[in-house]
Amino acid sequence: MVLASTINDLAKTYRSQFSVFEHVTYVNSCSQGALANSVKKSFDDYIETLELKGSAWADWAGYQEKMRSLFATFFKVPASEIAVTTSASAGVNTVASALDFTKGRNKIVTTDNEFPTIGQTWHAQELRGAVVHHIPSNGDLTVDIAALINAIDDQTLLVSITHGCFRNGAVTELEPIIEAAHKKGALVLIDAYQSVGAIPLNLSTLKADFVVGGNLKYLLGVPGVGFLYARSETTSHLIPTSTGWFAARDIFAMDIHSYDPAPDARRFESGTPPIPSLYPSATGLEMMIDIGVENVYAYVCDIHDALRTGIEGVGGKVVTPKKKAHHGAMLAVASLDENAHVAALEAEKVVTSSRDGNIRVSPHFYNNFEDVEKIIAAFAKTKHYLRK
Ligand SMILES: Cc1ncc(COP(=O)(O)O)c(C=O)c1O
Repeated sequence: MVLASTINDLAKTYRSQFSVFEHVTYVNSCSQGALANSVKKSFDDYIETLELKGSAWADWAGYQEKMRSLFATFFKVPASEIAVTTSASAGVNTVASALDFTKGRNKIVTTDNEFPTIGQTWHAQELRGAVVHHIPSNGDLTVDIAALINAIDDQTLLVSITHGCFRNGAVTELEPIIEAAHKKGALVLIDAYQSVGAIPLNLSTLKADFVVGGNLKYLLGVPGVGFLYARSETTSHLIPTSTGWFAARDIFAMDIHSYDPAPDARRFESGTPPIPSLYPSATGLEMMIDIGVENVYAYVCDIHDALRTGIEGVGGKVVTPKKKAHHGAMLAVASLDENAHVAALEAEKVVTSSRDGNIRVSPHFYNNFEDVEKIIAAFAKTKHYLRK
């Protein structure tokens, strides 16, 4: 039986553009998005600039600005609030470099659902006077929002939270945390890497102060490009002490006797942009803008639910929270031996990944309900690895 989505079947329209499906059932977008033909062609467009012009700095700098304006369109914010970075880590670190932990507030409140970069970056700031406070996760892997809000006090400089947890797919409701933090005068940084492109995020209404992420997962891009959103109303007083010439007010001033950063979010950038990665990442983001993340979310919710029912039906334990507000695309399935289990699924031509004793199954708009059946069949065939 082939299940059917009740809504617009996005895979029907777009799947033929992703050749990986001629070989495997790809369901690992939480790690790397599938390669679209148009994204593949963009690598050639970059190579062509080298072949035809040798150096093409005007074209390349244009791509950095194109990327910035695509992010602005995607997030519904002004381009002046976007820094184009090389990774989420680069974004968080440049924000950290702008914080002063020695005058007044020095506390960072964060969760136990964070990606290593986030925890490590804030603990590194202990060398500069920061005090880091972790909120343990609930038993169902969600963030204890009441405890987190309770921990935000007059000493809190910044609250750092992940939107979607990379280990288990648990999603945190951001609005109450942002509201509580702002009431106490604290800033909020969101790591949106696991949700961007999978869950709609309207940064003009969210009111987060900083948001970081990158392009290689649900945004269909490649490693080397990320973003830092910095809300001008609340962050324009923060000046990074980690910098580079592409962050200068006038990049071509070539001044080595002073520091004059750009007044907008570009001040959080650094050196030469990751040009070969900008071409394919811009094309991937254009595709996501065309499709619309709201449509992706609605479609993938049905796939997620069908996968959950099917995997539980063959004896699997899905540890990702079930409530719609508490998950995105990813489902984490408890495993007795995650590495062997991923390999066994791959032998069935189903590509997943693992973290923390769980198999991560992460569909996107190019997956269809035939994939769902194949994935469930592969879990049934490898059921000896399922952890109850
Ligand atoms: C939630 C989350 N944050 C951050 C990262 C890593 O970001 P980067 O390597 O761009 O610093 C990942 C990568 O998997 C992630 O899942």
